[in-house]
Amino acid sequence: MSIRSWLYVPADDDRKLAKIDASGADAIVLDLEDSVAATNRDAARGKARAILDARPPAARTRQLWVRVNPLDDAALVDLAAVVGGAPDGVILPKIEGAADVARLGFHLDALEVREGLPQGSVRICAVATETPAATLRLAEFAGAKLPRLSALCWGAEDLSAALGASTNLDDSGRWALTFRWARSAMLLAAKAAGVEAVETVYVNYRDSAGLEASSRAAAQEGFTGRVAIHPGQVAPINRAFAPSAEDVELARRIVAAFEKEGGVGTVGIDGKMFDIPHLKRASSLLARHEMFSRRS
Ligand code: COA
Ligand code: MG
Repeated sequence: MSIRSWLYVPADDDRKLAKIDASGADAIVLDLEDSVAATNRDAARGKARAILDARPPAARTRQLWVRVNPLDDAALVDLAAVVGGAPDGVILPKIEGAADVARLGFHLDALEVREGLPQGSVRICAVATETPAATLRLAEFAGAKLPRLSALCWGAEDLSAALGASTNLDDSGRWALTFRWARSAMLLAAKAAGVEAVETVYVNYRDSAGLEASSRAAAQEGFTGRVAIHPGQVAPINRAFAPSAEDVELARRIVAAFEKEGGVGTVGIDGKMFDIPHLKRASSLLARHEMFSRRS
């Protein structure tokens, strides 16, 4: 799948919805949760469904996801309204632990039957650090069998509220310790579960340079993509999570050197040693590069 940019769009906002096809985002997230006032939820459900219906899976140029409300709120009403539109996936906010992902999976099992969709076709991305309990339980994802789960994301805003914290930053402007800890634990949980790791929102949406630098740092740590809240954030995020030109060049040289030598376990390039793990990384980097080049 590999999604670099997840562009959130409030699903009740026609002007923003009109921008999704030209956005360049790998995935659009039609939001029914925190960017929509409770009084507008019904309208938002109808609009999200219309967007999905107008872009059936076979005709989709980018993935269409829906962020539903939490399970103890209106998740079921949201799901009943949108699953018939065959979304690529559902983002589940404010989970209390991996058991909530399993519960959502059961609801989707039933709704896919009702809608005549292939079993398991609707994927799940869980926002896994919005409650203290979920953050403490991140290790559960390491052993959980959750076939629909394809990504974990983290969020600092709701966690701050749950902690009663007046800020989530330290004196130097970095995430405060509790939030850095949550972020790292989510990254480890995603890798342990074999799913994508999604970096949280960069709220200063006019600061493209800051966004790109911070996204590149996240990519170097192992994050595979990032939330975007404004169309202007998509291009910097896509660049940051795609292999750089230098990375692609080096990967091509590594693959070529192994092919030329034939049957060896190590090669030297410019006085540096490369072995089989380097070859594997180079091959998967080139595969990602080709996939993203076809997409844009
Ligand atoms: N998706 C699609 N289009 C968007 C968009 C988004 N997330 N955010 C802004 N746009 C559109 C605007 O509608 C505007 O187009 P228009 O002039 O035709 O209306 C254009 O992009 C430029 O927007 P701009 O004027 O720079 O920003 P804004 O003041 O309209 O919106 C926000 C700023 C932050 C309110 C807006 O980006 C937003 O609502 N983001 C999503 C927030 C969200 O989903 N949060 C939940 C997840 S954390
Ligand atoms: Mg939120």
